[in-house]
Amino acid sequence: MKSYLSPSILSADFGNLRNSIMAAEEAGAEYIHFDMMDGTFVPNISFGAPIVKAVRKDLKAFFDVHMMVQEPIRYIDDVAAAGADGITVHQEACLHLDRTIAKIKETGLKAGVALNPATPVETLSCILPMVDLVLIMTVNPGFGGQKFIPYTLDKVRDLRRIATERGLDLTIGVDGGVTLANIKEIETAGANFFIAGSAVFNPVDKIAENVKAFNALLKG
Ligand code: DX5
Ligand code: ZN
Repeated sequence: MKSYLSPSILSADFGNLRNSIMAAEEAGAEYIHFDMMDGTFVPNISFGAPIVKAVRKDLKAFFDVHMMVQEPIRYIDDVAAAGADGITVHQEACLHLDRTIAKIKETGLKAGVALNPATPVETLSCILPMVDLVLIMTVNPGFGGQKFIPYTLDKVRDLRRIATERGLDLTIGVDGGVTLANIKEIETAGANFFIAGSAVFNPVDKIAENVKAFNALLKG
């Protein structure tokens, strides 16, 4: 199973956002991760659909939108119209997760579901065949630059085992505290989709170098 990097723009220079994304794309990033935050589901506010639309234009990368928003079903149409290719919602933020996932897919986008560190993977047993991606949060969502929480690695292992037992070709992503130093261990545990913010966009003149370093480590 091939592995992919999805650089998170949360740690990019917002004053120079499109150029930073272009640098990552030109260096080989096939995905770009957008962290939407509403200040309610998480204790921080970032941006919404207009920013996705503003940078979309001729960029070719897959726009992977991570909605850290209470009841994200309200914004799916807007985010899709802005140019997203995939939307990931939090299990904890959706009263009707089945309806929310169904709506993302009806809109023609890839559907992902994210789990906070303390939410067990078993909570997804019913919805698993419907989703393209499960995103295991490896930090508490809300901020870039936090430390990877070690016990979340067991969740990656458990989820890969469950998916394999059920014959599901599931993309398992990890988000938070992913670095060049720990990515191989996480990949060995069963993840094949890696979100990295501060380790890609800092420092600003090393974006291309960082993307290439990550891609060189991942299974091709
Ligand atoms: C955290 C976000 C992440 C964040 C990761 O709530 O979902 O995508 O940007 O940042 P790093 O890689 O710096 O931990
Ligand atoms: Zn994220």
